[in-house]
Amino acid sequence: MNLLEKINKAKEYIYSIDNSKIDSAIILGSGLGSIVDDIDNKKVIKYKDIPGFPVSTVKGHAGELIIGDLNGKKVIAMNGRFHYYEGNTMEAVTFPVRVMKALGIEKIIVTNAAGGMNPNFEAGDLMLITDHINLIGDNPLMGKNYDELGARFPDMSEAYNRELGKLVEKCAKELDIKIQKGVYIALSGPTYETPAELRLLRRIGGDAVGMSTVPEVIVANHMSMKVIGISCITDMALADELEPLDHAKVVETANRAKVKFVSLVKEVVKQL
Ligand code: HPA
Repeated sequence: MNLLEKINKAKEYIYSIDNSKIDSAIILGSGLGSIVDDIDNKKVIKYKDIPGFPVSTVKGHAGELIIGDLNGKKVIAMNGRFHYYEGNTMEAVTFPVRVMKALGIEKIIVTNAAGGMNPNFEAGDLMLITDHINLIGDNPLMGKNYDELGARFPDMSEAYNRELGKLVEKCAKELDIKIQKGVYIALSGPTYETPAELRLLRRIGGDAVGMSTVPEVIVANHMSMKVIGISCITDMALADELEPLDHAKVVETANRAKVKFVSLVKEVVKQL
C-alpha cells in the first residue's frame, strides 16, 4: 500500500467513528494532555485501532485521538505523539498530520515541552515558536514526493504562520498570560544536550531546544496547512548553569504550566 492509500484508510476509519467537520487540530506535548478534559462530546479513538498509525511508547504520552467540542469549536487532539528517537520512521512520525489534512483540517496547533536556552526565559514560561532549525539529521520529505500532497521543494519562509502567531499573542494578552517568542531547535534526542551542545545551539540562534515538532511542522507546510507552534519551557538549558535533567522533571514543570497553557490554547481555538 502506498502512502496515499494508507492515509485514505486511516481517514475512512476515523470518518466511520465521527465525520463532523473539524475546525482545527492540536498536537499535545509531554505533560500537556490535560486539555482533553475540557473537550465535550468526546469521541476517543485509540491509535492502535487506526489503520497505519504507529503506537507511542513514551510515559506521559497517551495514545489517542480525541474529537469533540472545545470552546464552541470542533477540534481533533492528538494526545501523545510519535518521536523519531523511538525508532519510528519520519513517515510514521508525521503520518497523523497527513491524516488530519485528509480530514479537511487546514490549521494545526503543535505543542511541546522544551528546554529554554534564552537567558530571559524561565522554567514554566510559554513560548510562541516563530521559526525552527531542523538538526534532527533527517527530513520527513526525503524519498518519493507525492505531488498530490505537496511540492517536491516546499517553501518554508513562513513555517509558522505570522498572522496566527499574532492571534496567539493577542489571546495571551487578553488572558494576562506572559508569552515569550523564539526559535525552536529540534535534535533527534533521546539524550538531553551537553553544555557544549547548548553553547552551539544558542550561538546559532536557538531560544528553545527539543526532540519533536519540526517533522510535523515540515509535513504540515508541505501540505500548505497553517501552523501555530507553542513550547512549554520545562527547564532552563543554559550551558553554564546546567543542572541534571530527567523526564520526570520535564513532565512536572509542564504540569505546573498546564493551567495557563490550557486557557491560552482554548482561547486561540475559539478565535481561530
Ligand atoms: N532538551 C531537549 N528536549 C527537551 C528539553 C531539553 O532541555 N526539555 C524538554 N524537552
